[in-house]
Amino acid sequence: MRKVIFDTDPGQDDAVAILAALGSPDEIEVLGISAVAGNIPLHHTVNNALRLVELAGRPDIPVYAGADRPFAHRLVTAEHVHGVTGLDGPDLPQPVTKPREGHSVDFIIDTVRRLPDKTVTIAALGPLTNIALAFLKAPDIIERLQGVVLMGGAYFEVGNITPTAEFNIYVDPDAAGIVFRSGADITVLPLDVTHQMHSTPPRIEAFRQIGNKAGAAVAAMLTFSETYDLKKYGWNGAPLHDPCVTAFLLRPDLFEGRRVNVEVETGSALTRGMTVVDFWRVTDRQPNAFYVRSGDADRFFALLTERVARLP
Ligand code: RIB
Ligand code: CA
Repeated sequence: MRKVIFDTDPGQDDAVAILAALGSPDEIEVLGISAVAGNIPLHHTVNNALRLVELAGRPDIPVYAGADRPFAHRLVTAEHVHGVTGLDGPDLPQPVTKPREGHSVDFIIDTVRRLPDKTVTIAALGPLTNIALAFLKAPDIIERLQGVVLMGGAYFEVGNITPTAEFNIYVDPDAAGIVFRSGADITVLPLDVTHQMHSTPPRIEAFRQIGNKAGAAVAAMLTFSETYDLKKYGWNGAPLHDPCVTAFLLRPDLFEGRRVNVEVETGSALTRGMTVVDFWRVTDRQPNAFYVRSGDADRFFALLTERVARLP
């Protein structure tokens, strides 16, 4: 059983990642959801996280509000992909539950300190602002964490929000640099693997065919959020990013990767947020992350569909 805190900027793909985790209660205990500004401003990411736990029939799961902006840059959002609310597509009711009192960084710190060492994983699906703040405020949790499994970065696929940077790292490169240099046990699900996970029409239809509320909502989410990427890439389906984190937590055997060094560009305006991955080990920089290079797309989508099918 993995005890997991999701740090997220939902976002349709974040939503699928969280729903698949909530559909896997025998393998993942979702300790709470920490919202961060990213795809859309913080008030939307908090509201969307609340709507998601209610859609999954789990209003008991605590949702906390975290950072509303990156460390040093102005917030860059992605409404062009996710819509104004960040969860455009399905018609989800406004939440009846409220976010918990307190900042999500304190929730992360208190939870890691409360539970036995090496039992809590942070699944990071957005900019790494909250994680970096938690590491700065309470460095002791770095060692106590089981690890951080994050969607972010790229090497072979280079960038999506700029020619050289992936969105989550680009929004807060300073926070990403802190996390990658922290010494935490880090697993990276970068664009190199998420760009192999195409949400083709049959794969979206499989969610719709489940026949439950969650499946219908996922199909509507992916149908909305694919528009921009289909035009941009011209593929047979839009890449599905954040659920690669949940799938890795459930079935790491679906993926291949290697331990390498990852550094983040924070100084250059041209390449801000680029993850400089020493994939071919051409430097003496010490490996600091398990970097996932590829995965089995068919089994990935089958896993997600099977887990979403377990929800109401
Ligand atoms: O680059 C993809 C990442 O940026 C995903 O986490 C998506 O939700 C957006 O946050
Ligand atoms: Ca995200």
